[in-house]
Parts: sequence; structure tokens; C-alpha cells
Amino acid sequence: KRVAILISGGGSNMLALVRDMGPDHPCRPVLVASNDPAASGLARAAALGIDTAAVDHRPFGRDREAFEAALTERLEAARPDIICLAGFMRILTPSFIARWEGRMLNIHPSLLPKYRGLHTHARAIEAGDAEHGVSVHEVTAELDGGPVLGQARVPVHPDDTPERLAARVLEKEHILYPMVLRRFAMGDRTPIRL
Ligand code: GRF
Repeated sequence: KRVAILISGGGSNMLALVRDMGPDHPCRPVLVASNDPAASGLARAAALGIDTAAVDHRPFGRDREAFEAALTERLEAARPDIICLAGFMRILTPSFIARWEGRMLNIHPSLLPKYRGLHTHARAIEAGDAEHGVSVHEVTAELDGGPVLGQARVPVHPDDTPERLAARVLEKEHILYPMVLRRFAMGDRTPIRL
């Protein structure tokens, strides 16, 4: 299976996915694309010999469709079977999602359905939750709302800061996402719970 990975920043989840896609894996990475040309994940992907694309969303202003048309052009050229959103920070329109529905995954740093949207770690601390974590889900038109394919839990420590909690969650992301992709690529949608 051909996998395209969309990033916006450092791409640590992209790296975890790429490193797991060895010769025994049903997938191989065919494109790493970012909405931010300065995303350091692009250079990290290129260093691994993976095709990259920078499609800056800023020139398109509020015209999401125009940005997505440019992104789609690069995606179509790579002919992906699966798209993994990994730290991708743009909201996608329902028409873009419809085009890839059933073949697009996202990783979100919360135990969905809790804390959809942003600042999830601060919100978990603020709420006094004893547990927090990360979810990998199929992307549907509902923001952070598609079927959950995997979750990993971490404890919240009393004196946690959002940064320390985020770091603890990120470690689990790098384990969970590759596990979910392997299973998803084999057509198995049984949820993984770590
Ligand atoms: C991480 O906080 C992760 O929870 C979310 O995006 C952020 C950056 O991820 N998915 P990455 O290092 O760019 O993969």
C-alpha cells in the first residue's frame, strides 16, 4: 500500500511511521507533504529519500478549496492508497475528506471523544483528569470524530504541565500510530488499546 503523510511541523509521528515501514510492512511511504514550507519534517523526510511537497496554505488566504486543489494535485501524483495526517494542523473541507474517506487516518492527542480540537493537554490538566492519552481515528467530516482505531493512555501527574504531559503522550503516539497503520493496511479495523 502506498502511504502519503501530511505534516505541519517536526514530523515526529511521520518519522515513527516511516521507520516502521520496513521490508516486512504492507505499506511504503510515497509522499510527505506539508502546508508549511518551513516544516522541519520535510527535510527529515527528504533525508530518508522520501518525495516531499510543500504546499503553502498562506497564499490561498481563506480559500480552503483552492489550497486543497493544490494539495490534491500533489497527492494524486503520488497515487496514495492511504493518507496519514500526522501533526497536520489544517482543517480539511468535507469535499476533500469525502474524496479520501475510508482511506485517511489522523492522530489526535486526547482520549476521544474527550477534548476534540486544540490545547488538549492543558484541558485535561484543568479538568483534573487522572488519565489522558492519544487516539488514532478514521477521518470523517466531523472534526476529530471518525471511528477510533486505537488509543493509548498515560497517567496525569498532579504537578504536570501541558508540556510534560504532551511529551508523555507523544511517546505513546509514536508506538500507537505505526501499530494502527499496520493493522489498517491489512483491512483490520479492530481497535487497539494500549
Ligand atoms: C503532536 O503534539 C501530536 O500530538 C499532534 O501533532 C503534534 C506534533 O506532532 N498529532 P509531530 O511531531 O509533528 O508528529
